Amino acid sequence: MRRPIIAGNWKLNKTIDQALDFVVELQSLVDGTGDVEVVVAPAFTALSAVANALNNSSIGVSAQDLYWENSGAFTGEISAEMIVDSGCSYVIVGHSERRQFFGETNQSVNQKVKAALEGGLVPIVCVGEMLEDRESGKTKKVVTNQLVDGIDGLSKTDILRTIIAYEPVWAIGTGKTASPDQAQEVHSLIRSVIATSYSDQIAESVRIQYGGSVNPSNAAELLSKPDVDGALVGGASLDADSFAEIVRASHQ
Ligand code: 13P
Repeated sequence: MRRPIIAGNWKLNKTIDQALDFVVELQSLVDGTGDVEVVVAPAFTALSAVANALNNSSIGVSAQDLYWENSGAFTGEISAEMIVDSGCSYVIVGHSERRQFFGETNQSVNQKVKAALEGGLVPIVCVGEMLEDRESGKTKKVVTNQLVDGIDGLSKTDILRTIIAYEPVWAIGTGKTASPDQAQEVHSLIRSVIATSYSDQIAESVRIQYGGSVNPSNAAELLSKPDVDGALVGGASLDADSFAEIVRASHQ
């Protein structure tokens, strides 16, 4: 049985004070949801404060990106070691906004995934096609390439610690979510790619989240699909009530 994981990617939102107010509220709403893994991903500046505030709670903390070197002359970058030092256990890698706006490639994603695992973090590796890929029938090819390149060289132990997030780019921030069947189709493809590279047993254990306009009214149906093991939520994760509702939807 795969434990559902609901993560909130805050992107470029919330000051430290706003982040702290949010997690106080969230804790009162989702306490006692032990069968679901709940994670928030604040901006770098709020990581430490949020991790401290959640120290005695079951809610995990994630960074939104990392660099693969541990130290050196890399202005503006943050290492896995620094992210662990700030109290985080997870890191999002290869989000489509990093790919689209900041030149992330499948190769840099792979270097970051390896650095995250080596540093002791759980990577949440994002894959997903653009609208033109879907419309020209290239979804499977694009997602398979991103996945195969992104997890290249990972050991069995590493892949079992890794979480994959399927986020179709056309569904992100658009209010246009993938239908539960569309999500299931790609999640099942992702699982079969992992089975081919590792084994059926390993593929059955890896968790695959769906992301892209997840909200309290569509979450339950998406999460009811057999290969959808959780959600990576953007906009709807910025409000504690709606994020908590999505967490509750994953119980059903
Ligand atoms: P939205 O939920 O705002 O569509 O964003 C999804 C996302 O990019 C999560 O990483």
